[in-house]
Amino acid sequence: MTRRLPTFLHACAWLFAAVMAVLPAATRAGDAVVPLIPQPAQVTVTEGRFTVGVDTPIVIADDGKGTAGTAAYLSDLVERTRGLHLRVQRGPAPAHAIVLQRDPQAVVTQAEGYALDVTPAGIRISARDDAGLFHGAITLWQLLTPDAQHGPVTLAAMRIRDQPRFAWRGLMLDSVRHFQSVAEVETLIDQMAQHKMNTLHWHLTDDQGWRIQIKRYPELTRIGAWRTPPDAGKNGEPKRYGGFYTQDQIRQVVAYAAARHITIVPELDMPGHAQAAVAAYPQLGVTGQRPQVSIDWGVNPWLYNVDDDTFTFIDNVLDEVLALFPSTYIHVGGDEAIKDQWQASPAVQAKMRELGITSENAMQGWFIDRIGQYLDKHGRKLIGWDEILEGDNLPADATVMSWRGTDGAIKAAMLGHDVVMAPAPNLYFDHVQSELEDDYAGRLGVESLRSIYGFQVVPAILGAAQAKHVLGVQANVWTEHMPTFAHVEHAVFPRLDALSEVAWSPAASNHWPAFLARLPAQLERYKAQRIPYADGAFAVDIAIDRTVALVTGRATVTLANQTDFGNIHYTTDGSTPTLDSPRYDAPFNVTLPITVRAASFATDGSELAAARQRVLDRASLLTVAGNSMPNCPGSDFRLRVQPLPDAASTAPVYTINVFDSCHLYPATPLDGLRSIRVDTARLVRNFAMAHDQKLVVSRPRRTPFGELVVHRDTCNGPVLASMPLPDPTHSARNFTLNAALPAQQGEHALCLIYTAPIEGALYAIGQVSLTP
Ligand code: ACM
Repeated sequence: MTRRLPTFLHACAWLFAAVMAVLPAATRAGDAVVPLIPQPAQVTVTEGRFTVGVDTPIVIADDGKGTAGTAAYLSDLVERTRGLHLRVQRGPAPAHAIVLQRDPQAVVTQAEGYALDVTPAGIRISARDDAGLFHGAITLWQLLTPDAQHGPVTLAAMRIRDQPRFAWRGLMLDSVRHFQSVAEVETLIDQMAQHKMNTLHWHLTDDQGWRIQIKRYPELTRIGAWRTPPDAGKNGEPKRYGGFYTQDQIRQVVAYAAARHITIVPELDMPGHAQAAVAAYPQLGVTGQRPQVSIDWGVNPWLYNVDDDTFTFIDNVLDEVLALFPSTYIHVGGDEAIKDQWQASPAVQAKMRELGITSENAMQGWFIDRIGQYLDKHGRKLIGWDEILEGDNLPADATVMSWRGTDGAIKAAMLGHDVVMAPAPNLYFDHVQSELEDDYAGRLGVESLRSIYGFQVVPAILGAAQAKHVLGVQANVWTEHMPTFAHVEHAVFPRLDALSEVAWSPAASNHWPAFLARLPAQLERYKAQRIPYADGAFAVDIAIDRTVALVTGRATVTLANQTDFGNIHYTTDGSTPTLDSPRYDAPFNVTLPITVRAASFATDGSELAAARQRVLDRASLLTVAGNSMPNCPGSDFRLRVQPLPDAASTAPVYTINVFDSCHLYPATPLDGLRSIRVDTARLVRNFAMAHDQKLVVSRPRRTPFGELVVHRDTCNGPVLASMPLPDPTHSARNFTLNAALPAQQGEHALCLIYTAPIEGALYAIGQVSLTP
């Protein structure tokens, strides 16, 4: 579970349908797509061409440090991705060069904007600021990497005038729930820079860890940076999990980002999500007790208290944070602070009476305001999640990051606050991007490449004056279910491409087919940089009518991918599909048993998604993966989790519903099927449900540890089998349950319910097989 309470789930809004601008003619040079992401504000293809080869120098045409840094970055990137060495030189530009120049007279006047001209005589990038010049260089790099080839590139002559739509183009990285190395964070920063994203919101403190060294308070990292996993030292779990960034490392990362024109906004979450801090210094908490650093995802109850000493602590921490991070904005969290501890605390209640404050929400407002004043005194601005609005006493200059849908942003903008749009679920990259069985762990529903691309940043309800308060847009990478950086990369790429276009490009240029046409070049850039992006948007889904296949032994196979993009090629002999394999144009008929494999390719022949396969035989059709079994009616919460919270693998994953362990096996002709086999996994129930705990469904059991009960047709239907669960303290985490089935006739669905006690482990289904 991400941090949100499940009741806050929003249905996915298919907003993209509203956005169907006309494809700007200028994105095409002749018939060739100009492969730029994000799409620039203006591209005009002109007469002629220019070839960039090893004898094309990059010329630094001013004496700024920024220009030199950009030249070096461009040269290095082109060398690494195109195998083309472009030497960097200073001074007067020879003919046929790439000239980089900061120029106060540059034609694009907006901050971060640039002009890029390709003519038969050479290339010139000019900008009024260093960031603009850097963005222009990235655009040129993309022009120089239109495909996976190495060596010289011939460009069409063109004129690009470009500038960002939004000033805040953000990505939030949660380094608490799972920790990334400095090198990994820097990899993410490079990719952000290559997408013209400019704000890394770095989530550094939470219940499950404190990740930033604070010299004055060493216990924050000695104790607070480490948690003890549920299976510590067993089943692949480390003895302790955690880590933190030293101040030297933070300085390194901040400088690395700055050199790429990215600002890092640190987040220290308060007054809630404070359990790791309270574990380090119990006097900061409300109860005086020392909790463990949490291993539970969700909403934990530990808050900071409201004593003066605690504010002194926070001010001292902020002093060190402000010295490390030059950003204007400092994020103070403010989310999901359930007030149970404050309500139960005589000291907090006395303080509220003393202040004349009558609700805990208003008390949070007072808390946040006090921090805001401290930041203000130091020339910084406070930003927080939209709960900071709830006290109704938020200082006018506080900025609101809207995550509970977009309502917070609308309310805040109407009140005159600046806002950043980062709503769940639309821009929560912890949501999976496909329902393919091989997608990684994450939250459902699907937030697809297309849904990200279709996100409308400025709510239509805002008038022009209010819309000016929308600083920009951000996606959030919560890492509960991303134990490794490979998981983070899978979640971020290529959805970052869609986000970057939403954040940077003019709304009128938003055009999904044109974006897709520009994407294959970007996928090749990922490959060249060894970025393992998710291919779920293009992976082929192999569909048949299962009942017809079971009854007749024949099937009509339909192949499709999520985006309907590219060409699908397939085989039926188990071999890997290539461009020479049959191309899919229409559903085709097969006789079982057979194995269908299919992959999708771009028009230039590059592979968009690795081959997927489906074995079509009776046994396989009667085996259904837990990940493709829907929930029972009544509760739509779905989460794909790792076998253990810190398991470093990407597979297997298990789909669970923390509210109700009940799953549906699809309608199947049951004639002749006399036994059921269920591959089962016992998982850790490490979910802090807060006030939603009462929604967890508990069912009576007959045996000590509960059982898996199989009902026919519906979850109230007749019981066909009941399989007792083994003693959790004396059995492996994975085991198989078997039972005989009474003879049935005709087609029936099955409802499978775990009756294990809800205080104990969670049980998940690996797969269910029916056999004769
Ligand atoms: C959040 O997801 N709790 C901001």
